[in-house]
This record gives sequence, structure tokens and C-alpha cells, in this order.
Amino acid sequence: MSTSSASARQAALEDILIPARIVPVLTIDRVEDGVPLARALVAGGVRVLEVTFRTDAAADAAKAIIADVPDAIVGMGTVLDGDDLRRALALGAHFAVSPGATPELLDAAAASTLPLLPGVATASEVMQAKARGFNLLKFFPAEQAGGISMLRALAGPFPSTRFCPTGGVHADNVTTWLAEPNVICAGGSWLCPASDIKAGNWEVITGRCIDAMKKLRRR
Ligand code: 3PG
Repeated sequence: MSTSSASARQAALEDILIPARIVPVLTIDRVEDGVPLARALVAGGVRVLEVTFRTDAAADAAKAIIADVPDAIVGMGTVLDGDDLRRALALGAHFAVSPGATPELLDAAAASTLPLLPGVATASEVMQAKARGFNLLKFFPAEQAGGISMLRALAGPFPSTRFCPTGGVHADNVTTWLAEPNVICAGGSWLCPASDIKAGNWEVITGRCIDAMKKLRRR
């Protein structure tokens, strides 16, 4: 994904995240799990994936998914600084996600072609992101940082800012989050618990995705 201006990068991110509705946050410990996991998610109708940079396997797993699962749209998560952002771009990611928004990372993203979804949890962080042209943000950790009432409070001073809440979102509250007018999608690990990945329970993961997407369509 190569886009040059802040508005073009945000538009590219919206094109990915709005139709996705749900973005699974993946922690992959073994490179060989990446492709079957991504295939299981795609088979369940979940195409946009956040592969976190939290493990040694993450980069190679993401590369394998990008090469072998063309229907998956891969973003790199847990991007903490400009170096991580450059690694994400080099391995072919479509977008990047960060848990927070340091000035160094925001500046690197403003100079990069890779769209970044920066994490924020406070009004000051929203202001820092907006000052650099970022108006589509991850609200993290969503439940722990105040939940829906916090997001509603942020909508007052920041009416045009939209969010992807992540952290504490799960099967029973995701539709409530998605009903908020300033929420465009929601992220979380609940679709792919570590135990299912470790055991290779790919059909269970596909079934969970199908159920989640059905529930969203019923809204
Ligand atoms: C994370 O970064 O760990 C994600 O926000 C996932 O949070 P969750 O495990 O509460 O879904």
C-alpha cells in the first residue's frame, strides 16, 4: 500500500477497516501457524488481520501470509517506533497499528507511505495525532481506558475523529461498540485465542468468525 499524503493514507485505511468491521489481533508464536491461521480467518469471512510484532515469528509469519493467502489484508501491529514502521513496510504490510502515539512514531508515519492506525487513550493523545493529520485512531485499551462512556466523551471535542476500539472487546460486547457513531471497526484477540492457535484448532477459529460475522449482519 503506497500513498503519499495524510488524507490519502487515511482514505486507504478507511477502505480497509470500514468493510472489515472486526480486526483480529494475532500473536503468532510459530511461523508455520501463520498461513493456516490466516486461511481459517479468511474462510470465516474475516480478511483484515493485525499480526503483532510481539514474537520472533511475527515478521516471517506475516510475510508467509502475504505471499500465500492473497485474500488476507495484513497489517502489522504493536508497531512501537519508526523502525517497526519501516519493517512493516518492507515486509509488504498494507497498514500498521500502534498501541500508543509517540511524537517520534507519528512523525515517522507522517513521512511514510504506510498508513498507520495510531493508538490513543486520552484527549491529549487525540490532539497530538490530529495535529499530524491522523483522524482515524485506535482507542486502546478500550474497556480499561473508560469504555464506551470515554469514547462518547471524546466525541464532544473531536466530532470528526473516528476510532477502532481494541482491548477488552469480545463476542458479547463487539456489537455494542460497533453501534457507536464514531466507531468504524473493532479489534481484539477473542477470535483467535492462543490456545486454539497452539492446538491448530483452525475449524474452531473459522466457526467463531462465521458466528461473529452473522451476528454483525443481524444488527
Ligand atoms: C492487544 O493489543 O493485546 C489487543 O488490544 C487485544 O486486546 P484483547 O486481548 O483484550 O482483545
